[in-house]
Amino acid sequence: MTQPDETGQGGRKVALITGSSRGLGRSIAEHLARSGHDIVVNYRRNADLAQESVQRLEQLGARAIAIQADLESTEEIDAMFDGVQAQFGRLDVLVNNAAATAFKPLLELNDTNVQRTLRLSVNGFVRCVQQAVPLMDGRPGRVVAISGVDSSHYMPGHGLLGAAKAAVESLVRAFALELGPRGITVNGVRPGGFETDSSRIYGGSQYEFLRERFIAQSGIKDFGTVDDMAGAVDYLVSPDARYVTGHVIVVDGGLTANLGELDAINDATRNHHMGRVNS
Ligand SMILES: NC(=O)c1ccc[n+]([C@@H]2O[C@H](COP(=O)([O-])OP(=O)(O)OC[C@H]3O[C@@H](n4cnc5c(N)ncnc54)[C@H](OP(=O)(O)O)[C@@H]3O)[C@@H](O)[C@H]2O)c1
Repeated sequence: MTQPDETGQGGRKVALITGSSRGLGRSIAEHLARSGHDIVVNYRRNADLAQESVQRLEQLGARAIAIQADLESTEEIDAMFDGVQAQFGRLDVLVNNAAATAFKPLLELNDTNVQRTLRLSVNGFVRCVQQAVPLMDGRPGRVVAISGVDSSHYMPGHGLLGAAKAAVESLVRAFALELGPRGITVNGVRPGGFETDSSRIYGGSQYEFLRERFIAQSGIKDFGTVDDMAGAVDYLVSPDARYVTGHVIVVDGGLTANLGELDAINDATRNHHMGRVNS
């Protein structure tokens, strides 16, 4: 969707997507480039992949730059926004996407695991929004935070990240109300299972089994593609979503609408009722 100019300056909008050197973040960046945004790619370690993102975005007609910043560090976050100010002088969209954690049972977590996960997902989100708001400067800014179904449903090894994501969703609601008077909307997207590096690391040797279970458990009977997720972000940053704020869109193919253990029963009753209807 092409964005009408809301600034009256005839220019493209500027979007910063944290953790956009690969995975869901890269896909979100590509969608936003197609819908009329210039892009700031943020990454932590992998400069080559970040440059690959930049090249792909330029091929889509966007002006794109990559800024290295470890979002566990307040100083590096501040320097990243100084870079945005220096290069673009403004910001229209912040997508808070980067996350990392230790996939462990809660009893095996150490202090460092807990602090690093929360520092990136919670402290990092708060600081990024604080730094983004002055750059949005009275324009209809958009903030989108990427959550996860672990925020509301138990997943083995996801207890810590799920807690961080639940905090992020709470911050989405609070920021929405505090930033609404400035014309800035704040929403979340809660993805189910998608094929990325982190889902492969999480699944490990059980990845294919996990993927099949997700598919079986979903309503759509398919695994999510990164485009499914990015499409939801694209909507939330569009003018069409002007009146949507303080909410989280679940993009999980119906995974968490399913009662899980009742799956087999659902299949049996579905067959039973289908049989009766047909006879
Ligand atoms: N994949 C799924 O199925 C799934 C499901 C639910 C929710 N999510 C959520 O979706 C988001 C993206 O997930 P993903 O699977 O695309 O992740 P991913 O493939 O692991 O990519 C993570 C991205 O974040 C960056 N990053 C990691 N730590 C960082 C830090 N401290 N500072 C700055 N950047 C950092 C990485 O940069 P480098 O390349 O430099 O390391 C990379 O660009 C996350 O919030 C995740 O929790 C994903």
